[in-house]
Amino acid sequence: MDSFEWNKIFGGLLAGLLAVLGVSIVSDEMFARHLPEKPGYEVAGVEEAAGNDAPAAEAEKPAAFYLASADVAKGEAVFKKCAACHNVDPGGANGTGPALHGVVGRPIAAAAGFSYSDALKGMAGKAWDWDALWGWLKSPKAYAAGNKMSFAGIAKPEDRAAVIAYLNSKSASPLPLPAAPAEEAAPAEAAAPAEEAAAPADAAAK
Ligand code: HEC
Repeated sequence: MDSFEWNKIFGGLLAGLLAVLGVSIVSDEMFARHLPEKPGYEVAGVEEAAGNDAPAAEAEKPAAFYLASADVAKGEAVFKKCAACHNVDPGGANGTGPALHGVVGRPIAAAAGFSYSDALKGMAGKAWDWDALWGWLKSPKAYAAGNKMSFAGIAKPEDRAAVIAYLNSKSASPLPLPAAPAEEAAPAEAAAPAEEAAAPADAAAK
C-alpha cells in the first residue's frame, strides 16, 4: 500500500473518531443533569430538608400512619437539625427558636418570653396537635406564611414522624401516639375503593 492509501485509512479512522466524540459531547449536553453540588444556602444540619433523597412523586399517607410506628430514637437524631435553635429540656431557655419542652399539645406561640412572628401569633388560638406539627415540619413556610423559622422542612415522612414522637417524649406528660388509620384494616370491602381514592387528599393538605 502506498502512503496515499494509508492517508485515506487514517483519515477515515479520524473522521470516525471525531464523529463518535461529537455525538457523545452533544448527548452529554442533551442529557446533562445540572444539579448544584450544594444547595444554594445551608443552615447548620438542615441539608436533608432539600428532599433530594426522597422519591419525589410518592403520595404521602396521613400523619397517623407514620406516627403510629414512629421511632423516638431516630427522632432524637433528627432533632440535631433543630438543636441549633431549639432547647427541648425541662426548663430549657429560648434560643433562636422558642423552648420546645412539652410542645406537643401546647398552644401555638406560647413559650414565655419568646418574641414570635405575627404569623405564629395569629395562630395562637390553636394547639400543636399531631396534624399541626405534621404540616409545620413538612414546610414551615407553607404552613404559616411569614413565620421566622429558617428551616425548609423535613421531606421524609418517617423522619418527620420520628422527630414529632421525640418531641412528644420530651414532655412532663407525653400523649399516646395516634393509632394507625383504619383504612389499612378494611381493604376487602366493596366500598373500599371509593374511600381509598378519597383518603390521600388530606395527606396533601397543609
Ligand atoms: C434556624 C433556626 C431554627 C431551626 C433549625 C429550627 N427552628 Fe423551629 N423555630 C425557630 C423559630 C425562630 C421559631 C419561631 C417562629 C416564629 O415565631 O415565626 C420556631 C418555632 C418552632 C415551633 C413552634 C413553637 C411554638 O411555641 O409555637 C416548633 C414546634 C418548632 N419550631 C420545631 C422545630 C423542629 C422540630 C425543628 C427541627 C426539625 C426546628 N424547629 C428547627 C427556629 C428554628
